[in-house]
Amino acid sequence: MKLFSILLACALACPVSAGAQQEPIVIRFSHVVASDTPKGKAAVRFQQLAERATNGRVRVHIYPNSELYRDREELEALQLGAVEMIAPSLSKFGPLGVREFEVFDLPFMFPDERALHRITNGPIGRDMLRRLRLKGVVGLAFWDNGFKSFSANRPLREPADLSGLRMRIQPSRVLDAQMRALGAQPMTMRFGEVYAALEAGVVDGTENPPSNFYTQDMQDVQTHFTVSNHGYLGYAVIVNRKFWEGLPSDIREALEEAMREATDYAASIAQEENDRALEAIRASGKTRVHVLTAAERGAWKKALAAVSVEMEDLIGAQLVADIRRAIDAP
Ligand code: LMR
Repeated sequence: MKLFSILLACALACPVSAGAQQEPIVIRFSHVVASDTPKGKAAVRFQQLAERATNGRVRVHIYPNSELYRDREELEALQLGAVEMIAPSLSKFGPLGVREFEVFDLPFMFPDERALHRITNGPIGRDMLRRLRLKGVVGLAFWDNGFKSFSANRPLREPADLSGLRMRIQPSRVLDAQMRALGAQPMTMRFGEVYAALEAGVVDGTENPPSNFYTQDMQDVQTHFTVSNHGYLGYAVIVNRKFWEGLPSDIREALEEAMREATDYAASIAQEENDRALEAIRASGKTRVHVLTAAERGAWKKALAAVSVEMEDLIGAQLVADIRRAIDAP
């Protein structure tokens, strides 16, 4: 009896300890790239911020490099609630039925990060994320990676240099049309399978920002890398809607704040990470790096101009027009 009253007094006297014993809320964050990439590092930053802001009531478990789910599977796993958070490339939302995200794939659409951020940090981007709720997911933020370059095992200086090559792409109709416009054969493939496919000669080349190219060791299987900046690669961080709306409101607010800070962090490191990777590609001595001259870039822009016209209606002409107006606004 005396022991029971002591224990009861204890439990009443320190409710905090009772709270600490609650099971933490676990966020399984799956992605397909290496950890030392803009997305990999931003995921770790979010983990740190989220766990700190919730005093450990939330634990974030990160699964990089497709170790838990590969491309496409991770979207299905998210909708089923088998993971809570993923950050797919904007080129991979087609299977979710939101093809308008392919607007980010239009060649030479964004002249620089400033133009891009007018969309991803502005009302158009927010509206695009909001529409994801209809698909059972909640869009939290856009994360940056960078502008893409072409690679192959021959020099790529003119658009015709891609003619006849089998080029790996993400599952986007715009990227499919882009490669066809250059006379190449597009081959859709999961990111985690690209290195092996290049090594085996199943595909001849691909396109990616330097950070993805270098962290997948593609310099070992590609002899030429052309800095074309012809398209943008970025991400949308999305969570399972049921999970997110089921969170206690104080936790959700803390996670939203952590996501805002992690998003700023991703934007602050993206260029630096890609510059560092480009230097590492050069230093490897395995891949020749060519930066397009202004004249060469003009030829690529001309060769790809028809793609944007062809794709506008499929993506949504109004959205394309709104984005162009926002980019060009003073
Ligand atoms: C790709 O498939 O090339 C990229 O989307 C991978 C990534 O997530 O950066």
